[in-house]
Amino acid sequence: MKKIAVMTSGGDAPGMNTAIRAVVRSGFHYGFEVYGIRNGFLGLYEDEIFKMERTDVSRIINRGGTILGSARFPEFREEKNQKIAAENLEKRGIDGVIVLGGDGSFKGAQALSGYGIKTMGIPATIDNDIAATDYSIGFFTALDTAVESIDKLRDTSFSHRRCSVVEVMGRHCGDLALYAGIAVGSEFIITPETGYIKDKTIQSVQDSFDRNKRHAIVVVTENMTNVSELAKEIEERTGHETRATVLGHVQRGGTPQAFDRVLATDMAERAVYLLEQGREGLILGLRGQEITSFRIDDALKMEKPVSNKRYGLLGRLRN
Ligand code: F6P
Repeated sequence: MKKIAVMTSGGDAPGMNTAIRAVVRSGFHYGFEVYGIRNGFLGLYEDEIFKMERTDVSRIINRGGTILGSARFPEFREEKNQKIAAENLEKRGIDGVIVLGGDGSFKGAQALSGYGIKTMGIPATIDNDIAATDYSIGFFTALDTAVESIDKLRDTSFSHRRCSVVEVMGRHCGDLALYAGIAVGSEFIITPETGYIKDKTIQSVQDSFDRNKRHAIVVVTENMTNVSELAKEIEERTGHETRATVLGHVQRGGTPQAFDRVLATDMAERAVYLLEQGREGLILGLRGQEITSFRIDDALKMEKPVSNKRYGLLGRLRN
């Protein structure tokens, strides 16, 4: 019987557990023994590998986080650590590994391929910053969390005639801010794709109060600016009370919503199927309705297209 392993790596994302379950269940269907690797590449290096049973994945389809644990392990870039990790797999006869994570994790998978391990990457990150897929597992759940939180902020902003500046996650990708901004009807968004022009931001808040709105919402991708300082300056220059909120890691937790579960199940089953077919060195992606795959080397070089249409949409709704 052939042996494969599954791991979750980098920042966790809702839906990772759903994917782990689908790897195990479909793995058994295709006649594999399935192993779990704890704590991502760190656990692979530390030999934290165990044989998974059907019951290990019972009742996790709807659980947030990852039962396997995750970690950031930049030391995996070093060849000596990669070699130890590959040996830990080889000594058990495991020749296929499915890696759930983002671009950093796929670089780890690419390195393992160099040691003859058959790898499959599944995009799972709330940032939706992976070029090979329209949507990554966890993005829509994080988006729902952000939207629910900003809706609550709107209630209190409206009551107090305030402006609310909200920082969402995304690392270097503005999708969470863009989609949340559209979904909550924000006045303005600041993302890596829009760039940050302070005066323009403050003017848009002023304009919305001039139009007799009782509140204004500005959604900002992390790392773009200091939201507390921006809030202070908006208040000073417009005369409208302004509060800053950083949503932070709440966006990473919680029950995966239905689409993330379907996507996770689809991609995980496909990854196992492809391994069974003898394919390797691939990253899966969703393009329209289809699950597709790219060579890891090619996928890592791809650039994520900017959703110009959606960015344009926000501007046209400001009146
Ligand atoms: O990649 C997911 C993510 O949540 C990013 O949005 C964020 O920049 C980063 O991880 C935070 O990482 P950590 O949990 O290590 O602080």
